[in-house]
Amino acid sequence: MTARLVVLVSGAGTNLQALLEACADPAYGAQVVAVGADRPDIAGLVRAEAAGVPTFVEQVRDHPTREAWDEALTGAVAAHRPDLVISAGFMKILGPRFLDRFTVVNTHPALLPAFPGAHAVRDALAYGVKVTGCTVHFVDSGVDTGPIIAQEAVPVRWHDDEDSLHERIKEVERRLFIDVVGRLVRNGWTVRDDRHVSMKCKTCKPE
Ligand code: GRF
Repeated sequence: MTARLVVLVSGAGTNLQALLEACADPAYGAQVVAVGADRPDIAGLVRAEAAGVPTFVEQVRDHPTREAWDEALTGAVAAHRPDLVISAGFMKILGPRFLDRFTVVNTHPALLPAFPGAHAVRDALAYGVKVTGCTVHFVDSGVDTGPIIAQEAVPVRWHDDEDSLHERIKEVERRLFIDVVGRLVRNGWTVRDDRHVSMKCKTCKPE
């Protein structure tokens, strides 16, 4: 069974690109069936079109209320019947209708619960941490508060600025994210006490 993924993007789409490339191998176990965005004219949509993947855009400002946008985005994604929705640099908080309907995996450029929100790399740098990193997690109704699936650390260097640090985080993030999504779709997962996620391992002995 190949899992159907709908990917949501807002920007450069380098995580999307990595996912498209991973999905080219049938052994990966997933295909990107559509890419959605909250704004037009972004590189992420161009990458999807270049790969022959259908795209759609749902802008908040095209709807009278946030609820109407939530409903429209839910409908647009549902039309592609995803098994899993991937938020890969999607810069909007997903609404309750959307989260009721889909399981969503997000990637975040910090070691949550430190530095949630839209400026994670800037905030980590300003705080003066020596180690930051990336987190792949399930999405709940909070801002980057959902159950953590996997994390990896990235050291901060003395001369880092936001761009250089984010670039190094993104290298690690892409690898981690691709590995995690593949394992989730191929093997499944369990969640204990609403917070503790374990990715199943087909070759491991049962716990
Ligand atoms: C990633 O670092 C993601 O964690 C953050 O925004 C970046 C998106 O990068 N939310 P890209 O659009 O996949 O290149």
